[in-house]
Amino acid sequence: MGGTFTLFPTQASTMAGRVDNLYFFMLAVTLFFSVVVAGLVVTLAVKYRRRKADDVGANIHGSTALEVIWTAIPLLIAMVMFVWGTSVYFALAKPPAEAMEVYIVGKRWMWKAQHLTGHREINQLHVPVGTPVKLLISSEDVIHAYYIPAFRQKIDAVPGKTTTMWFEASKAGTYQLFCAEYCGTQHSGMIGKVVAMEPREFQQWLSGGAPAGTLTSSGEQEFAMLGCVTCHRDDGSGRAPSLVGVFGKPQRMANGTTVIADESYLRESILNPQAKVVQGYQPLMPAYQGQISEDNLVTLLAYIKSLEKPAAKGAPATDE
Ligand code: CUA
Repeated sequence: MGGTFTLFPTQASTMAGRVDNLYFFMLAVTLFFSVVVAGLVVTLAVKYRRRKADDVGANIHGSTALEVIWTAIPLLIAMVMFVWGTSVYFALAKPPAEAMEVYIVGKRWMWKAQHLTGHREINQLHVPVGTPVKLLISSEDVIHAYYIPAFRQKIDAVPGKTTTMWFEASKAGTYQLFCAEYCGTQHSGMIGKVVAMEPREFQQWLSGGAPAGTLTSSGEQEFAMLGCVTCHRDDGSGRAPSLVGVFGKPQRMANGTTVIADESYLRESILNPQAKVVQGYQPLMPAYQGQISEDNLVTLLAYIKSLEKPAAKGAPATDE
């Protein structure tokens, strides 16, 4: 952003500085040793380039002290990189619990975003500054990768899976969004903008162009329309298990294993229900693989996730 040339993209997220510091540390270490080694190679090659026929060098039989030093120092540096890198990695990988969720679907060749409020965007993503945002990312066709350089975040969008990314924008602005995984002829055109807005402006943006319904209410409609509701009754009296309070909880399977009902499990259970059957139920549900679009699947996931409180009885829980 701005007119001045910078070597690096703007640091526009809370993690950007930490990522860059680690990067510059590793670059400095690498640069230092490259210069030392290259310098020695050149210096010694020049210094010893010619010798007399009878000039025989001393016969050296190793040096314990030297060996300890050149093992210990690189080990120490590598451990610093490991501990530092791991801490940055975990901070990047684990979204805060209160993060605002947005669903992203990659498709040749566009990025679709669905907010819980029901707002939909294509090749754009509006987010508030100062709020952790968690993206739940999937793909409708091939592998893509969601990449926001200014936030120093990148994650693959894999068909049949939900991957997550989180960031907290620290600076209002418009930032580049790229697909960072070759996905066909228009791969280079699969770009967009991430607009980080001051919270008040973001609220204004939300209040403009009011959507027909929230993501969970669209999901509830889809749930009824597909007929899911006839078997998955909230009170558990149907032929299929009630989905109330299921999300994030361990589920007993017919084969005796226990599975955590996360996004990937719910997704698989909709697309290919025979893969994991809940204990005490018959595998009667038809597979929705190829029968439901990724956009509608996302609404179903949001709806099922919203069924957290048994008291809610099918009413969509709060979106905020
Ligand atoms: Cu999508 Cu490259």
